[in-house]
Amino acid sequence: MNTKCKLGQSRSLLLVGLLFLFCLNGYAQNTLISDMDHLKWEKMMPGIWKASFGEMGLNPIDYTNLPNKEAIEELGDLPFPFDKEATYSLLTPTRASIRLPLNETEQIYGLGLEFEGMNRRSNVYSLKVDHYGGTKGYTHAPVPFYISSKGYGVLINSSQRVKIYVGVGNRKDSNLPEVIDRTTGKNWAARPISDAIEASVEGGGMEIYVFTGETNLEVVQRYNLFFGGGIIPPKWGLGFWHRVHTTSSDEDVLKEIQEFENNNFPLDVIGLEPGWQSFAYPCSYDWDSTRFPSPGNFVRTLNEKGIKVNLWENPYVAPSSTMYEDIRPYTGSHTVWLGEVPDYTIPEARQVLLNHHEKNHLNLGVSGYKIDEVDGYDVWLWPDHATFPSGTDAVEMRQVYGMMMQDMFDDYFKEKNTRTYSLIRSAYIGSSNHNFVLYSDYYDHQGYVTAMASASLAGLLWTPEIRSADSAEEWVRRFQTVAFSPLMMLNAWSSGKKPWSFPEVTDMVRNTIELRMKLLPYLYTAFYDYNQKGIPPFRAMVLESGYNDQVTSKNGVIDDVKNPYAEDKRLEVTDQYMMGPSILVAPIFTGQKDRKIVLPKGDWFDFYSGEYAGNGETITIQTKLEEIPLFVKDGAIIPMLTSISKEEKEKSLEVRHYGSKANTFLLYNDDGVSYDYEKGEFSLTELSVEKTKNGKLSGNSKALNSNKFTYDTITWKFMTK
Ligand code: GAL
Repeated sequence: MNTKCKLGQSRSLLLVGLLFLFCLNGYAQNTLISDMDHLKWEKMMPGIWKASFGEMGLNPIDYTNLPNKEAIEELGDLPFPFDKEATYSLLTPTRASIRLPLNETEQIYGLGLEFEGMNRRSNVYSLKVDHYGGTKGYTHAPVPFYISSKGYGVLINSSQRVKIYVGVGNRKDSNLPEVIDRTTGKNWAARPISDAIEASVEGGGMEIYVFTGETNLEVVQRYNLFFGGGIIPPKWGLGFWHRVHTTSSDEDVLKEIQEFENNNFPLDVIGLEPGWQSFAYPCSYDWDSTRFPSPGNFVRTLNEKGIKVNLWENPYVAPSSTMYEDIRPYTGSHTVWLGEVPDYTIPEARQVLLNHHEKNHLNLGVSGYKIDEVDGYDVWLWPDHATFPSGTDAVEMRQVYGMMMQDMFDDYFKEKNTRTYSLIRSAYIGSSNHNFVLYSDYYDHQGYVTAMASASLAGLLWTPEIRSADSAEEWVRRFQTVAFSPLMMLNAWSSGKKPWSFPEVTDMVRNTIELRMKLLPYLYTAFYDYNQKGIPPFRAMVLESGYNDQVTSKNGVIDDVKNPYAEDKRLEVTDQYMMGPSILVAPIFTGQKDRKIVLPKGDWFDFYSGEYAGNGETITIQTKLEEIPLFVKDGAIIPMLTSISKEEKEKSLEVRHYGSKANTFLLYNDDGVSYDYEKGEFSLTELSVEKTKNGKLSGNSKALNSNKFTYDTITWKFMTK
């Protein structure tokens, strides 16, 4: 029985009848809420609504891209997903708050980048851009967007820090559960079940967006498409990245590149850390003339070898910088590491930075940046009471700073018709259409895998970069994870490590990198689906159909209705995720001799052997040091390069098929570097597997629009015998 109905039980038949109707109607009866106003919803697009109240400050959506209306229309329409009458707003002199309905069994996912879990029910979060830390909601990308298992998502659009109570807290005028005496009552709960999600921000108002979907994935798709869909990185961005030690000179870098060749390791991007600059922390953004006396020649030499250059920087301007005098009129009241903090809401400030960077880096052929410290700790960054010349509130500035930087550089690269793939340490609302990948100093391997999955719930990409390891085993395990992530990078800025630093596992490391690189056609197409349909290329399992997300605690299945042990930690499956349409990745952590894998419904097969693995069940596998476990759906078609050598790469494909299902795969390809694909410059090839009369499988390929970016030869491999 619904515990809410216990309130107001009466002997009067009439009242019982009324109460019955009350319960049937559920949330529609929430009109009891006394001091709050109803939210007024306006339909924006099919399956997307908006409500707003009060006055907003800095609007985060100003730093996102425009919706892909056509793709949203193609997803179709659905009714508003919950009772509009149960949605409220309240403005007090200091805060703007909302109250939205929450069903007893509803699970809530998202709220940005997380390292420990994805199910957010029964907790309170302070969503603040920060280094990842103990406080719930302090993270590099605290995106105020949540997904409900009932098929909708809610975005709270504000640049203020959102404080959100997810099914915690009970208004006295709401549908209260039964009050239980702790001494005698079995189901007493420290956090009595609540029928609402409530959230608030400091200041004058907010916007709320609702996105519907038949599935969790469709909700995320609508959210991503609302901000223009996902990015398609340049192909080099999906190759191997190596960040050299911070004190490296041009000669050191050239030596390392030679070592990559000698050791037969691919290399697509060299990342330079703070020491490329004449001054860092705060930054000069000017080349150090002793380590890099001839930056133009240096970048050209690398580019001629097919290697891109990525530069580290943070936003804080050193007095010795050649752009210092020009930027000073546009900086805030406080310094960070004694460097000036530019107010990039001001167009002139953006122009100062872009002019400097164009002249000193981009015109030389630099491919992008790693923008550090846009998240910060309070003890490092500007205080909440700092002032900025545009009048922008300091708290809002911090929340959106990373997005401003992304938007500024993205616009620049787009104007030049060149794609970048860059790194950044903070993001916020609507970042799927920005060419940046998040990273962190937090170095927990399991946390990194969870972060990769949780990123997909908020329009983010995450790299579980490898820096160093305590053993050869850890080295290979971390390499395996990063090879199955949006950005495969060894960040040796402090360790000085090379991929072959643990000789006993060098071949394994090389094989892992090669496997990832061979999967490029599959992965690149997954990014095309991100771009066109908003489907994240790396996804949490809760976005996968047929996946049963049963939330348990150490005391068993959590029952949110009775909720007796709500203080228990929710145990979720956070150590596996999906890559592209049909590969399930289950990384191994140091010391694991076996591990469990939860397979969604449907037949699944082992990627390496093609053998049947299970269906809708939890399997246990024995680990092998040389392999990251990968499982593939029935009917999966996986196009792979046969060679990763720079000359051979784009010529021939091996197309694998798993299981027994007939299927098709739409393979995408383009020039890999420009935005010409937006003008129709790309090729789509239909790869299809049919069952012939004698029951055998046969594979066919057909170029659908143009032959410009197709492969010379395609060989089929049927993996399941
Ligand atoms: C850190 C960053 C590292 C590295 C280092 C250089 O803030 O997370 O990846 O770039 O700075 O000083």
